[in-house]
Amino acid sequence: MKSIKYLLLAVGVMMMASCGQQPAVAPAEPVDPAQVVLDNIMTRVSVRQFTAEPIAKSDLETILKAGLQAPSAMNKQDWQVRIVTNQDMLNTLSGFMLNTEMGKGMAERLNGKNAFANAPAVAFIAAETGENATAYNREDTALLSENMLLAVHALGLGATYQAAPARMINDSAEAKDFLKNSLGFPENAELINVIIMGHPAETPAVKDRDQNKGRIIE
Ligand SMILES: Cc1cc2nc3c(=O)[nH]c(=O)nc-3n(C[C@H](O)[C@H](O)[C@H](O)COP(=O)(O)O)c2cc1C
Repeated sequence: MKSIKYLLLAVGVMMMASCGQQPAVAPAEPVDPAQVVLDNIMTRVSVRQFTAEPIAKSDLETILKAGLQAPSAMNKQDWQVRIVTNQDMLNTLSGFMLNTEMGKGMAERLNGKNAFANAPAVAFIAAETGENATAYNREDTALLSENMLLAVHALGLGATYQAAPARMINDSAEAKDFLKNSLGFPENAELINVIIMGHPAETPAVKDRDQNKGRIIE
């Protein structure tokens, strides 16, 4: 009985094929890898509001690895990065930051959130200074940061590059000590920026860019 059913099914499929009918699921379009990369660049946008959902550890590892793959002057890799998910640590640091001149002005706008918008994860990005570093250590951290932003976006997460929190931390002796003692930054690390990241709780539009700022000269 069963074999007759299968025979009828097979005949039906053959008849559909001979009539030129499409199967219910169309075959996937071939993916152009270059377009995937370009779309990721062109659709990235700063996200500053996040859900409380943590970022998966495997995603954090991917984001970190993408950052560390950035080019650097003479391949010196004169940077130090810590991605922190420990909310107690972030709240402690935020307390120090909001005690600074700049932080006091900011506290009102935070609506009870910490200085990192309560992001589930924050990357602290520092340039190494001193004899092993090049004069281009800040440029290196910028490229590392952009790699991380693009990786975050590719993973369906959201992030914002922020320089202001780094200024607040650098203005606070307690915050600077916290970076060394609790996050393990070496003495020669100068904090340049943070990247707040998480699952987006907002969908900002991509902002226009002034195309006249760049030209091709032949
Ligand atoms: C050097 C630099 C410093 C920035 N500092 C901050 C900051 O302190 N706070 C913030 O919310 N965004 C900061 N941003 C994010 C910019 O505001 C944002 O990238 C810009 O408005 C363009 O928007 P988009 O990222 O959505 O394309 C900074 C970006 C850069 C490149």
